[in-house]
Amino acid sequence: MVKGEKQEKFTIGVLTSGGDCPGMNAAYRAVARVALNRGHKVVAFRWGYKGLIEGDAMSVSYLDLADILQRGGTVLGSARCDEFETKEGREAAIKALKSWEIDYLVVIGGDGSLTGALALTRKGVKIVGIPKTIDNDVPELDTTIGFDSAVNTVVDALTKLRDTASSHHRAFIIETMGRHSGWLALASGIAGGADIILLPEVPIDYPALAKEVERRLKAWGAYVLIVVAEGASRGSDVKTVLQSLLTKPVDLRVTVLGHIQRGGSPTAYDRILASRLGFEVINAIERGEHGVYIGLAKNEITSFPLERLEGPKRVINHSLYEMSRQLK
Ligand code: F6P
Repeated sequence: MVKGEKQEKFTIGVLTSGGDCPGMNAAYRAVARVALNRGHKVVAFRWGYKGLIEGDAMSVSYLDLADILQRGGTVLGSARCDEFETKEGREAAIKALKSWEIDYLVVIGGDGSLTGALALTRKGVKIVGIPKTIDNDVPELDTTIGFDSAVNTVVDALTKLRDTASSHHRAFIIETMGRHSGWLALASGIAGGADIILLPEVPIDYPALAKEVERRLKAWGAYVLIVVAEGASRGSDVKTVLQSLLTKPVDLRVTVLGHIQRGGSPTAYDRILASRLGFEVINAIERGEHGVYIGLAKNEITSFPLERLEGPKRVINHSLYEMSRQLK
């Protein structure tokens, strides 16, 4: 926009989609507050693409955004929506956008939701995405909203399990989320001091794993913490295979952290990241930029074309994994 030129005012739609995570409300709050403070209108669609298709929407006022910064989950609701995958579903979504006179749609979602947004952009909808996922597997980005909070949740669990494992001379297998990428398991394993970290990106060498568990338990009162990402294996399967290979009985226990990793109040880091991304989304919209997702890349807030999400997911940094092995 040329200096001094009056900024055009828009009606900006917002929705949250896919698996929830801490920080989504902080992102929604930032998008909406910055937009309202700059004189734009904001319309929130509830329950992700489902609400968009059904026209389940509300005009957002400043007061709607009070007291949500610190809340986990998403106050707008989210849903996995198969109907959105159909031609009729997408046409209904476009019809709803038109009836609410939406100029730009902000999608706060994981790579699945943002890839779905691509289909709408190809029908002329102006979309800007904010990636979020505890898996931290969005291409090009250093970290996604929700990841830092989930790492802290897993580390807290590891600290608690270390107390009981050390009291009973036990080996604990802790299963984390992370269907395709081991970022959450790797970062949590490093920060939580896990003895062994099993990742989708590194095939499990079970005979070597059994030998390492026995070696570690030899010392008096020793214990072992094994973190396994669900994309590598289920914790119960690791236990079964290990038990078949161990030369003497070992008290092996399994803890599956499950959706606890998705909840909780966002960390300060995630609140700041979410606020920065929400702020930058309004800057991008005012520049007329769309068909992109905005995230932290090489420590800079950067836009990338949504098409980038059709490529392979972001997998772990193997030098970080190698470092984790030398910290044992
Ligand atoms: O958002 C990513 C994720 O948490 C994965 O790590 C996990 O496997 C999946 O979502 C669980 O999905 P749902 O909540 O639909 O069971």
